[in-house]
Amino acid sequence: MHVDPSRHSNKLAVIGTGYVGIASAIGFAEFGNYVVGYDILSDRIRQLQRGLTPYHEAGLAESLAQHLHSGRISFTDDLSAAVEGAAFILIAVGTPTTESGSADLSAVEHVISSLAKLDLGNAIVVVRSTVPPGTCDLLADRFDGNVEVIYSPEFLREGSAVSDFLNPDRVVIGGRSDSAMQRFADLLAPLMRPTLTMSATNAELSKCMSNAFLAMKISFANQVANLCDEMDGDALQVLNAVGGDRRIGRQFLHPGIGFGGPCFEKDVKSMIHLSRTLGVDCDLLDATLGLNDRQPGRISLILEAELGRPVRGMSLGVWGLTFKGGTDDVRDSLAIRVIEDLAAHGAEIVGYDPAFKDPDHTLPCRLAHSALEAADSDALLVLTDWPQFRSIDMRTVGHKIRSGLVIDGRNVLDGDSVVAAGLRYRGIGRRRSSDAAELAEAG
Ligand code: UDX
Repeated sequence: MHVDPSRHSNKLAVIGTGYVGIASAIGFAEFGNYVVGYDILSDRIRQLQRGLTPYHEAGLAESLAQHLHSGRISFTDDLSAAVEGAAFILIAVGTPTTESGSADLSAVEHVISSLAKLDLGNAIVVVRSTVPPGTCDLLADRFDGNVEVIYSPEFLREGSAVSDFLNPDRVVIGGRSDSAMQRFADLLAPLMRPTLTMSATNAELSKCMSNAFLAMKISFANQVANLCDEMDGDALQVLNAVGGDRRIGRQFLHPGIGFGGPCFEKDVKSMIHLSRTLGVDCDLLDATLGLNDRQPGRISLILEAELGRPVRGMSLGVWGLTFKGGTDDVRDSLAIRVIEDLAAHGAEIVGYDPAFKDPDHTLPCRLAHSALEAADSDALLVLTDWPQFRSIDMRTVGHKIRSGLVIDGRNVLDGDSVVAAGLRYRGIGRRRSSDAAELAEAG
């Protein structure tokens, strides 16, 4: 079916086809809008036009195919065609971190410069990328008052991007123009969530500080786990009890080898950079990052303590390479950091991941085709919380693990089943077992 989006009052242009861009395009199409996705990467646009998504996420390709077919989503690498007649122009390009810890805004800047040369009619520009506080007001000035620029952060997670888009806890909108914010709030009204309007700077701070707080919760959980390791405690039981206080909450209290991915470290660094620039103490943020930098090192400590010898010459099997289960994204994956560290110390590593299959990878390990193949090792390390690892029958893989040691860096396995299979189990903050399921689900 062909639909001419320029004739529809709710045409949206989404600039950037990463996780946020594609999930937003699908989400907005779900509640009846016509969305044109644009990217500077022409190859990616051609793939998307054929329904091929640039990343793995359960159900994403199906949703995209459905909306391509209905005509509610289309893609172009022509910016002026993308924005022509659009009521809203959403910017969802990457803002990676620079050497100094500040955010690299060059992609956002480039989009704004390109848009400033076009006739945008009365479209509202909505920045969705995570940007440092103060950015959107500066960007707005580039349009000399002719175009409204507002900020509305996206809180979605990889692996559950579309459902997170459709089910946010709250909608945050910041800007100078009440009417522009109201128009965007009306667009998001089908979500039926509380909408918080504020200045753009406050909205920008809200996004960065949400991520910083979640990262801090994880580092706190890891600190508790490391203490439990020294006193035969069980971190999952302790954190389940701590998080059972509704003032605290159980989510994001799941201990492991630390937080990875493209957002948390970047956003904490950006808040540290901002605080330092303004001369404000940021000890809590520093500690959050410092703990996370050291946490992957727990794996080699446990390994050497359990096997009583240095990692040099060990043959290690790894389950999980991505920064978390449910995605094929290995950006800032702490599983990779552990592998690099162990390889640098002379270990031979074979890794298996259900989603990461890149034959051209440059990781210091061989990729196995199955969990069983990777288990053929001196010891097995679980480094990503893929839920399917929990249902692998350890009796069928156990005989492959020569020392019988399983180190569960994400506390994803059922320790009792591992022990019942005749193996030795070490989690992060627990030696044996406890029911991981409740916390894992909450986190
Ligand atoms: C995060 C934020 O959750 C999201 O709101 C924001 O929009 C983007 O950044 P994402 O990076 O996709 O989302 O993944 P998330 O599920 O938050 O996990 C981040 C990292 O923390 C992963 O490595 C994960 O394994 C780790 N984590 C998460 C823990 O170690 N323990 C937990 O309890 C939760």
